[in-house]
Amino acid sequence: MYEKILEIASRRGFFWPSFEIYGGLSGFITYGNIGTKFKRNIEDLWRTFFIKPQIILEIDDPIINPEKVFSASGHLEHFKEYLVECSVCSNVYRADHLVEEQLKIEHAEALGSEKIISLLKKSRVKCPQCGGALKEPMTLLTMFQMTIGLKGDEIAYGRPETAQGMFLNFRRGFQHAHEKMPFGLAQIGKAVRNEISPRRGIIRLREFTMMELEFFFDPKQETCPWLREVGDEEVNIITEEMEEQNVKTPIKEKIINLSDIGYVKTEWQSYFMGVSKKFLKALGVQDEKQRFRAHLPNERSHYSAQTYDHEILTEAWGWIEVAGHAYRTDYDLKAHQKGSGADFSVLRSDSSRFVPHVIEPSFGLDRLVYVTLECSYRRKKDRNIFALPKRLAPIKISVFPLVSKDGLPEKAGEVYKLLLDSGFPVDYEEGSSIGKMYARADEIGVPIAVTVDYRSMEDETVTLRDRDTWTQVRQKIKLLPKILDQYFKDQITFRELGSNLNIA
Ligand code: ATP
Ligand code: GLY
Repeated sequence: MYEKILEIASRRGFFWPSFEIYGGLSGFITYGNIGTKFKRNIEDLWRTFFIKPQIILEIDDPIINPEKVFSASGHLEHFKEYLVECSVCSNVYRADHLVEEQLKIEHAEALGSEKIISLLKKSRVKCPQCGGALKEPMTLLTMFQMTIGLKGDEIAYGRPETAQGMFLNFRRGFQHAHEKMPFGLAQIGKAVRNEISPRRGIIRLREFTMMELEFFFDPKQETCPWLREVGDEEVNIITEEMEEQNVKTPIKEKIINLSDIGYVKTEWQSYFMGVSKKFLKALGVQDEKQRFRAHLPNERSHYSAQTYDHEILTEAWGWIEVAGHAYRTDYDLKAHQKGSGADFSVLRSDSSRFVPHVIEPSFGLDRLVYVTLECSYRRKKDRNIFALPKRLAPIKISVFPLVSKDGLPEKAGEVYKLLLDSGFPVDYEEGSSIGKMYARADEIGVPIAVTVDYRSMEDETVTLRDRDTWTQVRQKIKLLPKILDQYFKDQITFRELGSNLNIA
């Protein structure tokens, strides 16, 4: 299925490998006209779920950061991977990925580097490319290093997460949040990681977009007042204890109970896990395809006291992580206080001071693009359809004349302009057979196709076609803006869009 989705994605303008004309470079993709809009719609949906006006504020911070930032944050010391090189063909591999692929061990990262290396040696794993012997494993800093200025005397790094921007700007963010706790800073932006031999296309990139939120709270304020908003959501969860005992079948539990039972350390984290579950549901991912898996201490990042990965079951790759939910405690703010001399402490009403704790939901947008496409992919009578949720569809309406003559294109042009002026993301096509034009609309997930035919010239009506059922109804042109607005706001169904129902 992955190959099929990639083929449609590049042909229809979602995304394709970058630098194609120079033979490509793995780990980089380019989004086209359709993909850029689609990505933006996912971003906007994320905002509606995660941003709380006045409380969670969005920022936009630089990608290039001076060395001091990552030496204080601990990334220079810890943001490393174990790699192994083939002594014959010189191909390099991530040690944990080799263990996963060659020894069929799930989540090898959780075993810790010593165990991974000893497994590689004991099992005499060979180079998967040429069968050659592998060299001693070594560590590699997976951040991109660069220098600033013409003399190149200031070392800098591309950020491997957007999160540091929120910590560096904590003081200003707090002021802008009217110095009220709790509050959050969020950011959607690019991150770069020098991934070792990235192979899974859009899943493992060297430059990708993150949607991250750092939520600052007083560790003495343990109750999250919003928990009930998502409390009834049931999640599939693999706890730390289950991971330790290698239990792979998740248990089902309601969000409201997670911290009381002791599965999740703070209610703030349970809340964001609940929001995350609902967000993925809105992207079209069914409950059974979602789970939260705890990291064992070996797998956790240096800053985290508890991490749950939000994983999605894909047909192409099995379970993949789309978000990490980490309890970063006061680790980062304290690290930057130490590194910079800034004061990040906050005053309580009883005059005591504290450095806020942090819960972080961290999403990879490109993985969501793939997951949303895979979950919406349908095959119908040899046709491909992306049955995207309406609000995510990059183009909401396509307008076609049935034939390119007898004044039909002019009439269709008027309909197109009417819908465009009414604010709909709409496109127009003519010149191909109507079947081909419908097929294109289905492949880019356009929910409604509007066709101008000979009858339109007489009675000012058009047909409206539903992407998912191929059903058609008829409606007056002048009513389109109003009823389509109601349809896209989910106030009416497709069948209520018009009369003369035709079942496809
Ligand atoms: P993985 O275990 O798959 O390498 P990670 O644990 O390194 O991921 P995090 O550091 O937790 O990932 O990053 C947060 C999110 O950013 C991930 O859940 C994922 O959606 C996204 N992400 C991380 N690395 C990449 C990458 N190389 N390409 C695309 N998205 C990524
Ligand atoms: N900010 C989460 C991560 O990069 O792992």
